[in-house]
Order: sequence, then structure tokens, then C-alpha cells
Amino acid sequence: MSPASAETAVTPPPGLTPTEWRAAMGAFPSGVTVVTVWNGDAALGATVSSFCSVALEPPLLLVCLDRNNVVRDPIVEGGVFGVNILAEGDQSLARQFGSQPDTGRFANHPFYAQEGEAPQLIEASVFIHCKVETTHPAGDHLIVVGRGVRIVHAKACTPLLYHKGSFPLLRSAL
Ligand SMILES: Cc1cc2nc3c(=O)[nH]c(=O)nc-3n(C[C@H](O)[C@H](O)[C@H](O)COP(=O)(O)O)c2cc1C
Repeated sequence: MSPASAETAVTPPPGLTPTEWRAAMGAFPSGVTVVTVWNGDAALGATVSSFCSVALEPPLLLVCLDRNNVVRDPIVEGGVFGVNILAEGDQSLARQFGSQPDTGRFANHPFYAQEGEAPQLIEASVFIHCKVETTHPAGDHLIVVGRGVRIVHAKACTPLLYHKGSFPLLRSAL
């Protein structure tokens, strides 16, 4: 087989355009988080569904952040961030932190500001404060591996789900 030319290398194979990729990935349901960080005195947050546990010992998790994501540079520069796991009923919060503008996202969504920690959304079911362990460039995203430092189990509840671009209720998804 001959090697791909520069021309063929930039042409996505059938079924692999960004739109088709997003649709395929959307078939895999996930939970929803808001990743938070301080940028000086300003609290920043962005909705992130590409989150998962990585290891138990040490306690590691990962999030994948788009190159334009407003939280990405402050996390890399500051070395700490928070993961707020959302609960069923937090759909409007997820939308507010997942769309422009990136200012005013915390309006109507208060948070705790513990010394030295990322903002903890009061509505989150679980909050995990993390230190950046490693980062790994991956296409237009950056994989950020964080080490859990402190966990707050704020409330017991059913999780917010994300599937095919919408937030189905857990009962109807089962
Ligand atoms: C349900 C949902 C899940 C998202 N998951 C991610 C994600 O995993 N990684 C990411 O970088 N952006 C994700 N986003 C998009 C960011 O939240 C969004 O790009 C950002 O908040 C928009 O503002 P910005 O471009 O200023 O950061 C998601 C958005 C929504 C609504």
C-alpha cells in the first residue's frame, strides 16, 4: 500500500467528518460536570462531559479541554482546578456554563470559595478539588489529568445525563 499523500491526509475518510464524529460520540451517554478555576479574582467555569476516572492509587481523573475553552490556560498556568458533578435538574446550569458569553456564567449559580481551592458550585452533587498531574496534547483538545485533593459529597441525587446533544431524564433513559 502506498503512503497517503499530503492531499489525501487532510481529507477525512467517509464517516469521519467532525459532524459525523460528534454524532457518533454523542451516542455514548455521559454525565455532566462544570470544571472551575480562578483567573486572578475572577471565577471561571465551563461545562465538560469528557470526564472520567483514571486511577484509584493515586486518585486520578481526566478532563479533555478544547483549545478555545476559557478555563484551559488558567488551569495549565495555575495547576489547580475543580470538577463539579451535576445533578438531575441542573440542565440550565449546564447550558449556561456551556455557551457564550463566558462572563456572567455564575449569575444565579452561587459557589463556595475555599482558600486555595477552585470554585465549588453549591448545586453540584460532588465537588473534587484537583492538582494538575500531567497534560497531554490531543488534536484540538488538551487532556488534563488531575490528582484529587479534596472531595465534597454535597448531596445524594440522581445524576444529570448527556446523550445525543440533550439531557434525558435517567428514568426515560433506562
Ligand atoms: C453538555 C456539554 C458538554 C461539553 N463538554 C465539553 C468538553 O468535554 N470539553 C470542552 O472543552 N468543552 C465542552 N463543552 C463546551 C464548553 O462548555 C464550551 O465550549 C465553553 O463553555 C464555551 O465557551 P468558551 O468557548 O468561551 O469556553 C461542552 C458543552 C456542553 C453544553
